[in-house]
Amino acid sequence: MNKELKILAVVVFFTLVTYWGVEPFAHSQMHKHVEFNNFAYKDLPALKAKGDPAKGKELVMGAGACTGCHGIKAEGMASPMDAATAIASYGVNPPDLSHVGALLDEKFLAALIKNPAHALKVEHKFNDKHPYPMTAFFGAGGDIDQEVADMVAYLKQIASKEEVTPKAAYEMACGRCHAMRYDKWTQLGETPKFKYEKDEVAYKAKVLDAQDKVKAYMGKLPPDLSIIIRARSEEFLKTFVEDPQSQLPGTAMPRVGLTAEGYEKVEKHLEEVGDPSKPARESLGWKVILYFVIFSILAYLWKQKIWSKLH
Ligand code: HEC
Ligand code: HEC
Repeated sequence: MNKELKILAVVVFFTLVTYWGVEPFAHSQMHKHVEFNNFAYKDLPALKAKGDPAKGKELVMGAGACTGCHGIKAEGMASPMDAATAIASYGVNPPDLSHVGALLDEKFLAALIKNPAHALKVEHKFNDKHPYPMTAFFGAGGDIDQEVADMVAYLKQIASKEEVTPKAAYEMACGRCHAMRYDKWTQLGETPKFKYEKDEVAYKAKVLDAQDKVKAYMGKLPPDLSIIIRARSEEFLKTFVEDPQSQLPGTAMPRVGLTAEGYEKVEKHLEEVGDPSKPARESLGWKVILYFVIFSILAYLWKQKIWSKLH
């Protein structure tokens, strides 16, 4: 074997050892392995009854009291308070319920209605003295499991009317806590356009005030997620959203209960805002490779031609 080939073999050998041996080992030491269950929520019980959406509607608007705190735009119901007032009352603005039936797991929704802090995995933060701001549903006089199933069926029915956009998925699942500067989103909602600077400054003051209240509620201000898609790996993000406690034990961020499809939508929005050039980059990739292939062939033919004259 000639010398160059031996050197090449040595280089290839050590590159592969580093690639498959050392790097994954270092990674496993620095990031603990977190199991990913594809948003299955195995700890929550399956629904015990088949729901009736018509009865569910009555409960959501009536005994369930959901519309006392949440809006349902799909049913033409605005939220009972504006965002700033809701944040002052609860710590965050309760999300509109139009899409929850499409984005959240049904077992999770049922568990949330019966015991919010348990479903959200924030029982370490709340207790009788400091109750969770969303009240638990204790039943309307009938079989509570049937009543909960009815409400879930109703929420699923209204959510099936239209496809949920990635942006709407983000707003429902993350937007009450996390701002996204690159998308002009704050905990107060979409930032309006202002004609006068005076109004813009006044609005900014209102946002800062709301953020102080979210911070007081959560213990810290949830980070802006504009570029999180580039700062954190896909693996970290999905396991973290599936169960924040698995990555950050004791964190105040709740498990939001997204289904796998719901999470995909949220991730798509994070990508569209935080890494808008990704599709262009990906479509450019194969063109660059094609260019290199053609260039290599030409270079090789050219070399052949030159050398053939020298011999
Ligand atoms: C007293 C006010 C109040 C009532 C009544 C109420 N909620 Fe809520 N709800 C909230 C607040 C506040 C939050 C956000 C809390 C947080 O994020 O820490 C919330 C959050 C939610 C979420 C989002 C959870 C997630 O996974 O992201 C859903 C879904 C929800 N409520 C559904 C309901 C339904 C269904 C009912 C009726 C059975 C209901 N709520 C009744 C105040 C209320
Ligand atoms: C009820 C409020 C709330 C909701 C809803 C919420 N988060 Fe959070 N999130 C927090 C808080 C508080 C922190 C800071 C956690 C900490 O440091 O303990 C946080 C932290 C994070 C982090 C940073 C983790 C890190 O260490 O880099 C990411 C990423 C994140 N959230 C993503 C999301 C996504 C995606 C959603 C929606 C699917 C979401 N969050 C919904 C409150 C929330």
